[in-house]
Amino acid sequence: MNDLLTSKPDKPMIAPSILAADFAHLADDALASLDAGADLLHVDIMDGHFVPNLSMGPALCGSLHKALPKAYLDVHLMVSDPAAYFKPFADAGADLLSFHIEVCDSEQHARDLCGVVEDLGVKTGIVINPPTDVERVLPLVDAFDLVLVMSVNPGFGGQAFIPEVLEKGRRIKPMLKDHQRLEIDGGIGPATAPQAIDAGFDVLVAGSAIYGKPRDQWSEIVRILRG
Ligand code: DX5
Ligand code: ZN
Repeated sequence: MNDLLTSKPDKPMIAPSILAADFAHLADDALASLDAGADLLHVDIMDGHFVPNLSMGPALCGSLHKALPKAYLDVHLMVSDPAAYFKPFADAGADLLSFHIEVCDSEQHARDLCGVVEDLGVKTGIVINPPTDVERVLPLVDAFDLVLVMSVNPGFGGQAFIPEVLEKGRRIKPMLKDHQRLEIDGGIGPATAPQAIDAGFDVLVAGSAIYGKPRDQWSEIVRILRG
């Protein structure tokens, strides 16, 4: 297992969201972003039901893993029935699988799903959407390897950052142990990354801020995002 996310980083880690990459040249773009200094790859899975968009499935994840076997794959499941996809993505090389608190009926349901992911030998993440009260996730924080706070309403890349979610990071951060990470996703770029870092986030997802720019700028952008 790849333990990249289990030790506290000195500087925030940068996770390019491949949703914004050129799918016809996916492995090239992904490799170039890692060569530019990014730490891991964020893989957005959308089912057209939990969010109003479709993105990619386990086969694509498997191909990416085959092309870049050393790349850490942080798989964000924006799906209504995550349990149906844990094993397919674990088999496809996911290092971490995160699912949304909004699809869980209860705290116990979230803990049970977490246990299923752990039993597959994969790291666990719980995700919270902007409109959802942070109180829903606080009692669960101890169970997961990572807490992901959405800073846009999920479904599309390139949306505007919602600054009100920073307060969630400030509430969650003091509860985390050194091996647990706090990730933020949506609208992160040079203008918003400093606010996220200040609020305690240590994994920053960035899609359009990286892949939306020419490749020769990526190392400079990654450096700027890291703060
Ligand atoms: C939103 C996704 C994000 C998205 C981020 O549904 O979860 O990961 O790709 O894209 P940017 O960085 O462009 O907001
Ligand atoms: Zn995401």
